[in-house]
Amino acid sequence: MTWQATVLTLFPTMFPGPLGQSLSGRALKNGVWSCQVEDLRLYGLGAHRSVDDTPFGGGAGMVMRPDVVDAALKTVSVKDEISRIYLTPRGRPLTQQDIQHYATGAGVLLLCGRFEGVDERVLEAYNLEQVSIGDYVLSGGEIAAFVLLDACVRLLPGVMGCEKSSVEESFAQGLLEYPHYTRPAQWKGQWVPEVLRSGNHEAIAAWRQAQAEKVTQIRRPDLWSAWIERNKNEPISMCKSA
Ligand code: ADE
Repeated sequence: MTWQATVLTLFPTMFPGPLGQSLSGRALKNGVWSCQVEDLRLYGLGAHRSVDDTPFGGGAGMVMRPDVVDAALKTVSVKDEISRIYLTPRGRPLTQQDIQHYATGAGVLLLCGRFEGVDERVLEAYNLEQVSIGDYVLSGGEIAAFVLLDACVRLLPGVMGCEKSSVEESFAQGLLEYPHYTRPAQWKGQWVPEVLRSGNHEAIAAWRQAQAEKVTQIRRPDLWSAWIERNKNEPISMCKSA
């Protein structure tokens, strides 16, 4: 069954954009996923197909009109069970867990805002999930949509060559991933850690676990605290500091 992405945007020609390349592009061609793009401008009002207006209460910028967004949302045909998402810096932070949830569902509908955002009433009327890809402000939701879609599509069955790698990668276990090395074994005087060349799979797994814990502790104290909390009843080696 095809995983269905529907994108509502004022810039429809941006899609599928980078997602038409590489693994996601091949999966799109093969029907693993579909990308339906709806031009919000088509629902604009008057001769100029206006989609926005000044904010009540004053202030800078323009706000996308609820009637325009409503007309677009009413028209697009999507399965009932898909997740309906509005991309906004005001949203809850997107996590790998969300991605796994979306990727195992039927698909997503993504509303991309521009200007100062979308009138709150239409977001509430459609009960859209409000999601942010990070604590910075983009000029619109389109690039955030690429991020969300790319992260989902690579998890769809058959898209990534090696299914096991999505279980081991960063965030999948709540930790950042261990470092990677390849040939040459010695480069600019630096050796690949000996344990990785030892052929001892148990020792390699233990080294990687320790490295994952160490890097998470240094770079992401938030993830590290959550990991400690989740593993506090595990044997001591699972969460000792590496
Ligand atoms: N639109 C603008 N900035 C955004 C962000 N950080 N996340 C999601 N959508 C956005």
